[in-house]
This record gives sequence, C-alpha cells and structure tokens, in this order.
Amino acid sequence: MKLNLAPNSALKSKDFTYGVATASFQIEGNLEGRLPCIWDTFCGTPGKIKDGSNGEIACDHIRLWEQDIDLIESLGVDAYRFSVSWPRLINQDGSLNDKGLDFYLALLDRLNQKNIKPFVTLYHWDLPQYLEDIGGWLNRDTAYRFQDYADIVSRKFGDRVFSYATLNEPFCSAYLGYEAGIHAPGKIGKQFGKKAAHHLLLAHGLGMQALQQNSPNSKNGIVLNFTPAYPETGKEEDVVACEWANQNFNDWYIKPLFDKSYPPIIEEISEEERPQIKDGDMEIIAQPLDFLGVNFYTRAVYRADKENRFKEIPPQNVPVTEMGWEIYPQAFTNLLTSLNHRYALPEIYITENGSAMNDAFIDGEVNDVDRIEYLQAHLEALDQAIAQGVNVKGYFAWSLMDNFEWAEGYLKRFGIVYVDYLNQQRIIKLSGKSYRDFISNR
Ligand code: FCB
Repeated sequence: MKLNLAPNSALKSKDFTYGVATASFQIEGNLEGRLPCIWDTFCGTPGKIKDGSNGEIACDHIRLWEQDIDLIESLGVDAYRFSVSWPRLINQDGSLNDKGLDFYLALLDRLNQKNIKPFVTLYHWDLPQYLEDIGGWLNRDTAYRFQDYADIVSRKFGDRVFSYATLNEPFCSAYLGYEAGIHAPGKIGKQFGKKAAHHLLLAHGLGMQALQQNSPNSKNGIVLNFTPAYPETGKEEDVVACEWANQNFNDWYIKPLFDKSYPPIIEEISEEERPQIKDGDMEIIAQPLDFLGVNFYTRAVYRADKENRFKEIPPQNVPVTEMGWEIYPQAFTNLLTSLNHRYALPEIYITENGSAMNDAFIDGEVNDVDRIEYLQAHLEALDQAIAQGVNVKGYFAWSLMDNFEWAEGYLKRFGIVYVDYLNQQRIIKLSGKSYRDFISNR
C-alpha cells in the first residue's frame, strides 16, 4: 500500500517539511552518563510501568546514534525532532556536563552535515530528580531553573539548531504527572494539576525569552497536544460537560499563550485547584512565538456527570489503535481550522502524529498496513485543513522507531521503524518505506 495525495496538494510541495520524532528518555538509555530524572524514579516504583521496564537501555541510542542518523537519512526526511535531556546536560550545581554537551553537539553537527534540520525540544518530561525533590513543577522556582537551562544550552548550541521547542505537551506533564498520577512523578490530587501547569507555562515563557535572545534565527516555540472534545449527544448537559472538558484539557494550555488569560472555568474551579498567578506572569507566558507545534492522535467523547461535571466515554464499536485511541481523522481537520479561527496563530508544525499498532515481525519484515492507513487518513485530513487556510509548514511522524512508551513500557510500538530489543536491530517497517517513497516522490 502506498501513501498518496493529489498532485496539487500542498503536502506534495518540496517546501513542506517532513520529519520523524523521538524523545530523549524514550530512546537514549545510558543512565551512567546523566543524573537521575523523575522517570527513573517512577520506573523504579512497582506497578507504575505496565511491563515493569525502565529507560536503562531503551533503544541504546547514546551508543548507536551514528547508525540512527544514517537510518533517518535513509528515510529521506527533511528534519529530525528530538529532545535533549536536562539531567544529561546540566549538573546539580548548574554547571554544564561536558560529556552530555559533546554528545548533543556531535549529533547536531552530523544532522547539519547531512542537511537534516534539527528540531530540538528542551523538555520532553525528564525533569532532574533533584528538582523534583524540592517540589518539581509545583515549585515556582523550577520555572527559573528551566530558564537557566534554556539559556546555557542555547548559547552552547550556537547556530546549529533549526528550531527549538521549550516544552513538549505541558498538559501531560501537569495533568498526567501531578493530578492523575499516571506519569512521573505520579502525584495525585486536584489541587496539584493546575499549579504545575502554571509553572510549566511560566517556564515556557521564561525559556522563550532566553531562546529569542541567544538564538534569534531559529524558529522558537512550544509543542502542545490536543485531544478535541466531542459531546456524546446534542443534549444541552452533554454539550456543557464537553465544553468544560475542552477548557480543562485543551484551552488551558493554548489560551494563555495567545490571550494572556486562562479559560473561563478558572472562575468556577475550587480555590484549592486555582494556580497562584503573580503580576506579570501572563505577559511572560504570552511571548510571541515563531511557531506552534501541534501533536494530534485522537479525540475524546464526553457526557455530563453529576459528581465530576464530565465523564469520558471510551470508544465503542469504532476503529481504535493498540492504545485504545479512536481513529478519527476528521477531528484533526476540525481542530486545526478551529484553532486558526480562534487565535492569531504563527506557523504550525505538526510535531507528532502516529499510531501504535499490533506489529508482527515475520521473516524480517513488518507489514503494518494499518499504520499506513492511519498515516494516509491523517495526511488527507491535514491536507484539508491547509486547503481551508491553516498555515502548516511541516509534519513529523511519531515515531522514528519503537521506543519506551512511558507507562506502557515497551509494550506499545509507535515506530515506522521496528526495534528488535533483543539485539537492538532496526528494521524499516512497510509504513517507513511508504513514508520514504511518498517524501521522495514529491
Ligand atoms: C505523546 C508523547 C510522545 C509519545 C506519544 C505516543 O503524548 O509526546 O512522547 O509517547 O504521545
């Protein structure tokens, strides 16, 4: 099966950037080379990771990075999005870890030599554990430690970086990490989520200031994830519940960036849930952005619920991926057009999109036709959004290769390249070959 779009599609343009994405904790391994982070601690807590695994080896990327860049090159992509590890780059006293720095400089240089644009994310969830020990994202000071980190790193990386994102998916760090407790550091409680979110957004704004100063020529921005909310029925109460969920999970993270304010539910949430907003915070958060990164995987359906205002209804009798996430590409088009309508957006990059499928590795091959179908449907949905005026400049497949999928451990495979964890072999899946052919036939 081939990926295919109409010849006049904007996605067929050579100017449209195609890439693949990864994140440090999910692929690097090599714990000796860095300080512990919150995910090391979380993995060490029984019952938190489905298969009891951790990031000790992952894809062994610290050792295999040269061959991984060759692999990326062989896919013919224009760009590679990856994250750098804060606890690999910065020592506890705030000084630089030279070995960590050398690793990333070599990686950046090699990418540039090969004309693959580096899209660097500064924070993809691996907070140094010593910062968590003094409150992590519940401690306002962490935002300022992030600014220091962004400042040092962007000075040292010089002009090697095409694009910086401050944070990846602050919703996941704040809500999953500090409210639902299913991600590191595993804190549970309504009183934590929005406080963590505010400090993360503040960190973003402070980080942006450092990036714009030290690296004015790179495209600097942030990556948000969106799970568009749909009401289960047209009934007023479900529509209201859905709107509440949408403000809580989606608008909470984008509205401050463009409107300098949190969504209206801030007036209705309890005192204990409310973040502490100091004078000037919202101005810092709303720094001008060169781009907005959008991660999209699925939608969510809500109904009214007496106790909790809304309740998410799991998908039933509809196509889902191995994560149990509904495959609903229309939501991708609608999300982009509605964001475009509501906000004065900068350029958009789709910084993640992809699917976990039940890959069968047989006779050295993975014929993941289902992943190609997902990709095809989502590229078509993206194409429609662009045709309706949304300014999207690029698309990154999540992920370059199978990797440590957080609370799911190694049980879920998102790669367009298969990783055989027994011997660290990488095998390009059929989806990877289709993506490569599609990109080269533009
Ligand atoms: C996103 C994360 C990414 C990956 C995908 C499946 O939320 O940014 O690291 O785990 O989900």
